[in-house]
Amino acid sequence: MEKSVHLDHLTLGVCYYPEHWEERLWQDDLRRMKESGIEWVRIGEFAWSKIEPREGEFTFDFFDRFLDLCEKEGIRVIFGTPTCTPPAWLTEKYPETLNARQDGVLYRHGLRQHHNYTSETYLRFCDRIVTQMAMHYGRHPAIIGWQIDNELNCEINEYYSDSDHKAFRAYLKEQFGTLENLNEKMGTVFWNQTYTDWEEIFLSRPVTTHGYNPHMKLMEKRFFSHVVSRYCERQCEILRQYIPQEVFITTNGVFDHLDSHGMTQRCLSFMTYDDYPNFAFDEGTHPEKPGAMNDRGNSWSLTRCRSISPNFGIMEQQSGPGGWVSRMRQPAPKPGQMRLWAWQSIAHGADFVSFFRWRTATMGTEIYWHGILNYDNEPNRRLREVATLAGETARLSDLPGTRYRARIAMVKDYSNEWDSQLDNWRRQDRISDYGWYEASQVCHAPMDFVYLPEEDSGYTVTLEDLLAYDLLIYPHPSILTKERAALLRQYAEKGGTLILGVRTGYKDEYGRCPMRPMPGYAMDLAGVKVEDFTLLSSADAPETVAWGGERLPAPEFNEVLLPLPGTRAVGFFCGNYYDGRPALTERRVGKGTVYYYGAAFSRETAAQFLKKLGMDETFRRWVSAPWDVEVAVRGETLFLLNYKAEPKKVVLHRAMTDRLTGEERCGAAEIPPYGVMILKKEGEDQ
Ligand code: GAL
Repeated sequence: MEKSVHLDHLTLGVCYYPEHWEERLWQDDLRRMKESGIEWVRIGEFAWSKIEPREGEFTFDFFDRFLDLCEKEGIRVIFGTPTCTPPAWLTEKYPETLNARQDGVLYRHGLRQHHNYTSETYLRFCDRIVTQMAMHYGRHPAIIGWQIDNELNCEINEYYSDSDHKAFRAYLKEQFGTLENLNEKMGTVFWNQTYTDWEEIFLSRPVTTHGYNPHMKLMEKRFFSHVVSRYCERQCEILRQYIPQEVFITTNGVFDHLDSHGMTQRCLSFMTYDDYPNFAFDEGTHPEKPGAMNDRGNSWSLTRCRSISPNFGIMEQQSGPGGWVSRMRQPAPKPGQMRLWAWQSIAHGADFVSFFRWRTATMGTEIYWHGILNYDNEPNRRLREVATLAGETARLSDLPGTRYRARIAMVKDYSNEWDSQLDNWRRQDRISDYGWYEASQVCHAPMDFVYLPEEDSGYTVTLEDLLAYDLLIYPHPSILTKERAALLRQYAEKGGTLILGVRTGYKDEYGRCPMRPMPGYAMDLAGVKVEDFTLLSSADAPETVAWGGERLPAPEFNEVLLPLPGTRAVGFFCGNYYDGRPALTERRVGKGTVYYYGAAFSRETAAQFLKKLGMDETFRRWVSAPWDVEVAVRGETLFLLNYKAEPKKVVLHRAMTDRLTGEERCGAAEIPPYGVMILKKEGEDQ
């Protein structure tokens, strides 16, 4: 079932914390929100003590007053369940509810997400607070939706408390049935790890040097995903008993060690994303780099959210300088940048945008994570920018529900994602992921992600889903099952083009490397056998591949390929001991083509693929834009986004109506610094 937002117009919201402010401010805040075009607030996600100040003692009047006021002022509400910040009375009395570090030391009260997801005690307390909230507030007319918890797996995404170890054993029992089976699948004969009793099994604990059993470590990640997802489902089930059918349930993601696709499918109405593009300019983490994506890089995360919900929501959109007292230092968004980021989200499929937060906190660790308003509560340029945006979104009333348009998709899956995180030899995964994404951006070839389901995800990806794309790139599916290889074969047979990269197919679903020729189940599909391979060390000269007059970078890891009958070698290595040997192959499969590239994909390599396959400039009939302007199309609406501090020139090849000004535009046009141009594009893409 499709899990998308269903709204009749683009809406703006804001995160608000009634518990942070004197009540006398509420009404004025709500009125000013309304004046600025904000239609709803997200509240409650950290406010457990306002509802259950002491164990078993429930008081509802605080949020009753706030909700009633919202109703009176015509502001709608998304209510968060407050379970990511358990009260001090709870965790002090019941320390078994706390999460632990790998060495067993407990995380204590004082920040957030310090609880675990498996303690029966914690789950009982969560059930009770959610039930109480749902029973009391569930039918309040101001509420349009609920948010489960807050950013599941954000602050931390690993859990090592006693109850987690216990639950892990139960999970493994369910997966493997017997210890013999587990020992075999987990390769425990290696270094004498064989288990003779379930009680001997633990989630990873401190060991000498760096080595964990990688197969157990992969199961551990699957386990984390499983328990967090179940925790979310449990809250959804409770809410659903009490809230009206049309009220939605969502959560704000998207974070690691969590199959958000499966979770959304099982229990949420749709997914939302918390969008902080200013991380690109965070002094400590990712200082701005020339030629890099910087804040435009967030389009990658928006694409990921879109792969869960084609039309999603932004629960938190950055609206000011960022920073915690203890970490992170981010500048103020430049004039126009907040608006640009909101349009970036919308261009990628968001049908609502909620800013974080109305006013900057005057206390606590986030006194520098600014909201729209500063401490002084005075009107400012950021509030004016929100009002401008509200005026503009009102003009795009037909946008909600329209789809982001992409001819190409990157295929992904959680098993490979997680395995590549724990496997030091899989650095090519990271390089290629961004290489392809950046290439699609700079070549103006909008791209989707398609996540193939895990065994327990509870959703399917069909051949028809894949055939919606002319080109699929599955950069390095090291774990490749027979079934997935068969699906990809069908895709090619029906006319699709598929690109696979180095290190495909050499692992099984537990991350072991079976005794068989590489690339495993992709051997017949791609029509190649790997003859020899090497990772490139820092001492190696940069390797390249000659492909029809071009020289492509071939970074990180190389495989020397042996084309099988019916497969053509079209690219050859230059520079190493395997100089002149096949590096890139092409095979016709049914009506389609499969390419196998024996290296990682840099941005330049991926861009060459797009050009050679004629997949670049998807909307070339309509617009020519420089590389640093993003081109995106939703339905019949064309977005041109300028992330730079200087104006950018584009050429419009057809007459189009500017959806923000109503003007007719054709030929040369200029997008102001941090500006957007939104045009009505009526007619065929190509
Ligand atoms: C998000 C979180 C918010 C706030 C914000 C700024 O990750 O959901 O509660 O902390 O970051 O740090």
